[in-house]
Amino acid sequence: MKIACIGAGYVGGPTMAMIAYKCPDIEVVVLDIAQARIDQWNSDKLPIYEPGLDEIVFEARGRNLFFSIDVEKHVGEADIIFISVNTPTKVRGVGAGAAADLTYWESAARTIAKACTSSKIIVEKSTVPVKTAEAVEKVLARNCVDKSIRFDILSNPEFLAEGTAIDDLKKPDRVLIGGRETESGLKAVATLKAVYERWVPSERVITANLWSAELSKLTANAFLAQRISSINAISALCEATGANVKQVSYAIGTDSRIGPKFLNASVGFGGSCFQKDILNLVYICESVGLKEVADYWRSVVTINDYQKDRFVNRMLEAMFNTVSGKRCAIFGFAFKKDTGDTRETPAIDVCHKLMADKAKIACYDPQVTEDQMIRDLSLDPYMWDHPAGQVTPKMTMVKQQFTTCKTAYEAAAGAHCIAIMTEWDEFKTLDYQKLYDGMVKPAYIFDGRNIVDPVKLREIGFVVYGIGQPL
Ligand code: NAD
Ligand code: UGA
Repeated sequence: MKIACIGAGYVGGPTMAMIAYKCPDIEVVVLDIAQARIDQWNSDKLPIYEPGLDEIVFEARGRNLFFSIDVEKHVGEADIIFISVNTPTKVRGVGAGAAADLTYWESAARTIAKACTSSKIIVEKSTVPVKTAEAVEKVLARNCVDKSIRFDILSNPEFLAEGTAIDDLKKPDRVLIGGRETESGLKAVATLKAVYERWVPSERVITANLWSAELSKLTANAFLAQRISSINAISALCEATGANVKQVSYAIGTDSRIGPKFLNASVGFGGSCFQKDILNLVYICESVGLKEVADYWRSVVTINDYQKDRFVNRMLEAMFNTVSGKRCAIFGFAFKKDTGDTRETPAIDVCHKLMADKAKIACYDPQVTEDQMIRDLSLDPYMWDHPAGQVTPKMTMVKQQFTTCKTAYEAAAGAHCIAIMTEWDEFKTLDYQKLYDGMVKPAYIFDGRNIVDPVKLREIGFVVYGIGQPL
């Protein structure tokens, strides 16, 4: 069996590496149009930082795992073709700011139609709007010259989280496969199920119809994000009343019907998917006339924006309503720990707002490069994939107020405040006395992740603001 995957990103790379690692007899080729990305996958320094990924790739690469830009050749030869291209939010035109941009997706489908000379199983791995499989079927059926060729479309959404991708792939809570309920559709589902069952217990490989599988992915992300917005909304109430959101989270999370996960109040959720997928869900609801349902889910994003605004407003209020010319140390830029990914990270919004108030930012993140941070801060929110190396006038402006540092100590030296944006473990064990000694007084800590102990830091002399925690 040969598998090809179009899209060598955060999902395509790790998921295919895991299939190759677990199934040495299956040849897996991961494809991309970006030569630079493929070169990195073929090098010693992989394009993404993900704990445990290197070991898996290095073991399988060259044995039965390959990375290539020769998309048509490998798609033509494969039995199963995964599509794992990016599906960002549209930035212009109808549905801008909400609908999914399916340009890359359609281009992948057209490539398949052009390259295929035999029947294939096509697997939607990207997160897509409900009914996308129908659109793919149409593109394939109308563009494939040989009408005897069959395409069975499956939906197999990915549930991995960045930072824990390898564990998530090794031991998934479930694998979901949706297909047409026809003889050929069921056969295609069984073929893909058999691949996963090589390492995933069969009761965890769930099957569904195509539309349920597509919708389940958007729904799962919406539910997860909704929990974060719910606890973040409560964090605002905690700050107003003297309750402690950590105690509230713990108290409600012990109810087995609620459960403890995804109840960490924070500066707001980030990442490439939560906001994008909820907005997509909202757009779909509006398209089918479900205004109230759309409004309900939109409020999850509204609260997230509110939380980020609130965080900066508190910083300003605490620091005598001005940060003009003040050095602000930003600890962490990635959207969560154990990843170098900065897509939709709350750090971008927080830095933008502080810079608008003329603050001088000194940022340290163990995995994010200076180039990446400058590009993120210089771009429109959705244009995260700006070409590397290009210098724009906006970047030059950003650099006047934003510097990156090699350590947390360097960032905090001479700073008026520290704002913790990412919950990197190393921030929990820093020598806070040393940090305090080098800062301007009063020295503030704004903990956007609730990872430091406010009592101990107050003993040192810091003024500490946690999310949803008493002052
Ligand atoms: P990504 O941007 O990291 O990777 C997508 C890759 O596809 C890019 O390298 C791009 O060059 C390539 N590509 C685009 N069009 C192509 C084409 N026509 N031919 C060949 N290559 C092409 O994106 P990602 O984070 O891997 O996300 C991919 C999909 O998976 C999205 O729909 C996303 O919502 C979903 N998803 C992402 C995560 C995550 O943690 N990042 C988790 C679950 C699901
Ligand atoms: C999320 C989902 O968890 C995955 O199941 C899904 O596959 C993926 O989106 C996707 O579709 O892309 P990811 O965004 O990688 O994964 O990371 P999460 O752990 O979900 O964190 C998302 C954001 O929420 C981060 O900014 C994180 O710091 C924040 N968060 C998470 C909180 O603020 N509080 C929490 O309790 C949990």
